[in-house]
Amino acid sequence: MIKIAVLGYGTVGSGVVEVLDTNQSSIDQKAGQEIRVKYVLDLRDFPGDPVEPVLVHDFETIVNDPEVKIVVEAMGGVEPAYTFSKRCLLAGKSVCTSNKELVAKHGAELLAIAKEKNINYLFEASVGGGIPIIRPLNSSLTADEFDEITGILNGTTNYIMTKMSEEGLEFDTVLKEAQDRGYAERNPEADVEGYDACRKIAILTSLAAGQQVDYQDIYTEGITKITVHDIAYAKQMGMAIKLLATSRKENGRFYSMVAPFLLNEDHPLYSVSGVFNAIFLHGNVLGDVMFYGSGAGKLPTASAVVSDVIDAAKHQNRNIMVSWSSQKLELGDIAESRSKFFVRISGNADTDLGKIKEVFGDVKLVQVPEYKDEFGFVTGLMSEADYEEKAAKVPGILKRIRVEERI
Ligand code: HSE
Repeated sequence: MIKIAVLGYGTVGSGVVEVLDTNQSSIDQKAGQEIRVKYVLDLRDFPGDPVEPVLVHDFETIVNDPEVKIVVEAMGGVEPAYTFSKRCLLAGKSVCTSNKELVAKHGAELLAIAKEKNINYLFEASVGGGIPIIRPLNSSLTADEFDEITGILNGTTNYIMTKMSEEGLEFDTVLKEAQDRGYAERNPEADVEGYDACRKIAILTSLAAGQQVDYQDIYTEGITKITVHDIAYAKQMGMAIKLLATSRKENGRFYSMVAPFLLNEDHPLYSVSGVFNAIFLHGNVLGDVMFYGSGAGKLPTASAVVSDVIDAAKHQNRNIMVSWSSQKLELGDIAESRSKFFVRISGNADTDLGKIKEVFGDVKLVQVPEYKDEFGFVTGLMSEADYEEKAAKVPGILKRIRVEERI
């Protein structure tokens, strides 16, 4: 029998306890031994909850108990999760977590401690919820070098974009509905401003590159400025607007970005709707591969955490994670990153398009008949810097959205 502890009895922690209970016999069989929760740490009391007999309030009880071999960190945030995780690893206990913020910030150090101690720091649930992506990158896809990782990595924003598109509603209206239905937090900033997706793409890029990517270096733009007008133009073009987190390797450098993108119908991420997530990768020998599924929520996330617990139980005293170096990866300057740009501009296409073509070269005109005082156009492929320079010469630009095309 192996004894585990769960730090935090919130959404993920209680989900982990529930999954271990629901699938107890199959989990025990897969782990090759019984897995039992000895402690759950939380500051709160839960009167009447089945967790009561194992609930503790003092972390020292857990870290000082040699019988506890695996610790689930489901606290979220950087502190005290970082201190607790580090102390558990230093005490020889494997740690499994869904905490993307902590993995993105301190992953290299915690992985190195686990390696040194011959135990494991596992974080399948930190990216894509229940979708396996860390384990494939760590073990199934190791023959490849990846030159593209592009994902819909945030369920809340994908739900909002899908609803805006399907029902023609403005961002604020859909956000409120998402909050009422529990799909968005009361403070939605981390999701809608792209910060959550930014940490997730930082983790995937660190794994793919083998070096620490600082999430602060990743250009990040959220979805708060996307309007019904933008979506009407997208539909006119047969496209969808999605918040993408992407890292692309060009000339030996990764260019990483989180931003809303227009996607063509034939793009593999076009039809990923609602709260679902998907991660598309391109490997130099494999070619394309895509992972799709439940990217958020209590049980999908807990499912991924428990799969890590099983892996940690099967690999006691053997480190199985590919580490990444704490030496910071210098990302390419986003000003050099190239794409096509969709631009909305006030004015009249009949009189103004000539001037636009003088500046941008050949562009594709897009018009939504109901919008009389504006029109849209799509540029050719150009760098961000080039776009900014040209856009500064054209007055009346209302919006620009990048167009995602497989280059
Ligand atoms: N708020 C996140 C999402 C939860 O919507 O994807 C999972 O990290």
